[in-house]
Amino acid sequence: MEKTSWKHKFVRLVELANAIVTHKRKLSKLLGVPIKEIDSAYNELAESKFLHDLNKKTAHPKILHYVSMFSPFRAPILYLICRFIKPDVVIETGVKDGFSTSFTLHALEMNKKGRLYSIDLPNRPGHELRETQRTGWLVPKEFYHRWKLILGSSRDKLPALLENVRNVDIFFHDSDHSYENMMFEFDKAWGYLMPKGFLLVDDITENSAFSEFIRKRGCKSSLELFKTGIAIKY
Ligand SMILES: C[S@@+](CC[C@H](N)C(=O)[O-])C[C@H]1O[C@@H](n2cnc3c(N)ncnc32)[C@H](O)[C@@H]1O
Repeated sequence: MEKTSWKHKFVRLVELANAIVTHKRKLSKLLGVPIKEIDSAYNELAESKFLHDLNKKTAHPKILHYVSMFSPFRAPILYLICRFIKPDVVIETGVKDGFSTSFTLHALEMNKKGRLYSIDLPNRPGHELRETQRTGWLVPKEFYHRWKLILGSSRDKLPALLENVRNVDIFFHDSDHSYENMMFEFDKAWGYLMPKGFLLVDDITENSAFSEFIRKRGCKSSLELFKTGIAIKY
């Protein structure tokens, strides 16, 4: 029994190592940069004070959720893409604790340029919040000068925001994952994406919205990395 369990764990570890190698290969191909540079960007992140501080902040009971957000397949992908693309304008829907927000802002700060606009629902009126329940509580204050948080539903707030900023380099969806809302956000954002702009989607396994959208738009450059969908507009 004991032996089987160790064998099982070993097989899982090998699978994970393979998945990470495949993940890096796919990213390298999509971004047109050597794997060596993908490795350097991950190392730069791993050794950063930002990650060290975030780790301390999240030494918390919701540890399983946090481990999943730290995995190279989730929030760090945003860091990586922003470091290579060097965007001027990033829009995201869905902030919650602020993992994706923090990783994106850290990359913009490293790039020394760019702004992030985030949309999330307002808190319930009259509801007292603990610090760790505040939308985007993980975001370091020193990144605030690159960040605008807009409270409201994406259906209400996204059209005006897009019309206001117009040229979007990266649009990241992580709000309401219903098929209707995903299609609504993709359709709206796609029209404002710059040539070679990125549509990033977490979590594409909930329904077929991402794959249908890619097909509908005839998008030739797209990728599914674990639960994240990536499409480039050419
Ligand atoms: C999965 S969480 C976002 C996680 C976040 N990206 C991160 O990395 O920590 C989803 C968030 O979407 C927000 N949300 C749900 N429906 C929304 C809508 N229609 N418009 C905007 N935000 C919405 C929720 O309030 C919640 O904070």
